Amino acid sequence: MNPTSPTPNTRREFLGKTAAVGAGALTVAQSAWAAGSDQIKVGLIGSGGRGSGAANQALSTKQEGVVLHAICDAFKEKAEGALSNLRTKHADKVKVDDSRIFSGLDGYKKVIDSCDLVILTTPPGFRPYHFEAAILAGKHVFMEKPVAVDAPGVRKVLEMAKVADEKNLKVVVGLQRRYQNCYQDALRQVKEQDIIGEIVAGQVYWNGGGIWFRDRQPGQSELMYQVNNWYHFTWLCGDHINEQHIHNIDVANWFLGGPPVSAQGMGGRQQRVDKKWGQIYDHHYVEYTYANGVRVNSQCRHQSGVYNAVREEFTGTKGKIYLDNAGRCYANNHKGETIWKYRPGGAASGADAAADGAAAKGRRNARRSGDPDPYQVEHDTLQAAIRDNKPLNNAYYGAESTMTAVLGRMATYSGKEIKWEEALNSKVQHMPAIVTTETKAPVEPNADGWYPIAIPGQKVPGVEIV
Ligand SMILES: NC(=O)c1ccc[n+]([C@@H]2O[C@H](COP(=O)([O-])OP(=O)(O)OC[C@H]3O[C@@H](n4cnc5c(N)ncnc54)[C@H](O)[C@@H]3O)[C@@H](O)[C@H]2O)c1
Repeated sequence: MNPTSPTPNTRREFLGKTAAVGAGALTVAQSAWAAGSDQIKVGLIGSGGRGSGAANQALSTKQEGVVLHAICDAFKEKAEGALSNLRTKHADKVKVDDSRIFSGLDGYKKVIDSCDLVILTTPPGFRPYHFEAAILAGKHVFMEKPVAVDAPGVRKVLEMAKVADEKNLKVVVGLQRRYQNCYQDALRQVKEQDIIGEIVAGQVYWNGGGIWFRDRQPGQSELMYQVNNWYHFTWLCGDHINEQHIHNIDVANWFLGGPPVSAQGMGGRQQRVDKKWGQIYDHHYVEYTYANGVRVNSQCRHQSGVYNAVREEFTGTKGKIYLDNAGRCYANNHKGETIWKYRPGGAASGADAAADGAAAKGRRNARRSGDPDPYQVEHDTLQAAIRDNKPLNNAYYGAESTMTAVLGRMATYSGKEIKWEEALNSKVQHMPAIVTTETKAPVEPNADGWYPIAIPGQKVPGVEIV
């Protein structure tokens, strides 16, 4: 696989790829600005919290001619609510006729048909199949992480990533640390300036309080209850190691230059024990082994009253680097002396910068100190790539980091050591390729209301792991 930066390929590689594809494919990719049209029609699929945010960002770029053209959500009122909010922010750019507000589980097809660029922000289980539909229809894509919940979904995304390249389509994945200045600068310090030497170990954390719960609505089918309350079902969410902790796991893959070779770990439910909490764990701990035996320890937790942290750190032969998305990124040598500190605004950094880094002290958020919002940069970058016809396809690393999180879940659910190849080739499919409102829910509660929950080392009826 091909772990890539936001602009992954060289111009030469890009020209090689586009030259190899047929004229039809190029026509598809040049359907908007590149073909001289003055409009790019954006479609939103999954108009909840993040979808509303991503649509706002897509309409907030400096590009002329970007309009929101169609919208859908599994639940019509959510599509209408998001639309109403977007209209108040972008009255001149929201051009969604009532006939282009779709609902149900097949609305995505109609949005894809009518737009040039689609935003895929449903629960992640649907992502591979929505991505497939968008790419086969020749549409550019912004899709949120994670890009799947199981290995067949990851393989689908990888297959479609290649088709996207062949069709010259642009794809951004919402792993926004890759678009954040402090992380990019830190990576340059590690790879180009060699400030910590060779990485020999790492720690990545997403330890936080918990997550929302959505009650069953009167008359709601089991399937639609789960779709609405998606976080708590593995087939829709992939568990929080996949849904949230992927951000930190992705940073490990990025800094180490590829995915791990194996994982083993432990996890379970200690605070979130009631049957109402569906299937997911409230904590996972995974020891990932990378090439040359480099170990990265990963922790994620949804518990209250305990140590919370969302950050990453890597130990090298010469020192240690500490990263977080509030911009508090710095490196120490093994004597504990600061050898680099990130300075918002992209100023040169190093030992001198560390000395006067006091100016930045106390700033809790790099964005407040002048750095661009990485969520906005994702859309600026995507639209610029479409306009200028520059290569951009994050689907490879998005799939690879999703697979790394899924590998971790396989390890914690099973309690066994799992190899990367075994995980990637797994046939266990939590998310059915086709789900309609009539589909039977992939997991059902038993007579006492319990959903199947993995127990490490035991075979649980209804739980398949690898
Ligand atoms: N990059 C980030 O920092 C970040 C932050 C938050 C969420 N996310 C990601 O964004 C995605 C959505 O998360 P959210 O917080 O917006 O959740 P959400 O529940 O607020 O929104 C999801 C929406 O999708 C709708 N939906 C479900 N199935 C659908 C289908 N088949 N077709 C159309 N609509 C469907 C739901 O009704 C809901 O409105 C997740 O993958 C999540 O991991 C990323």
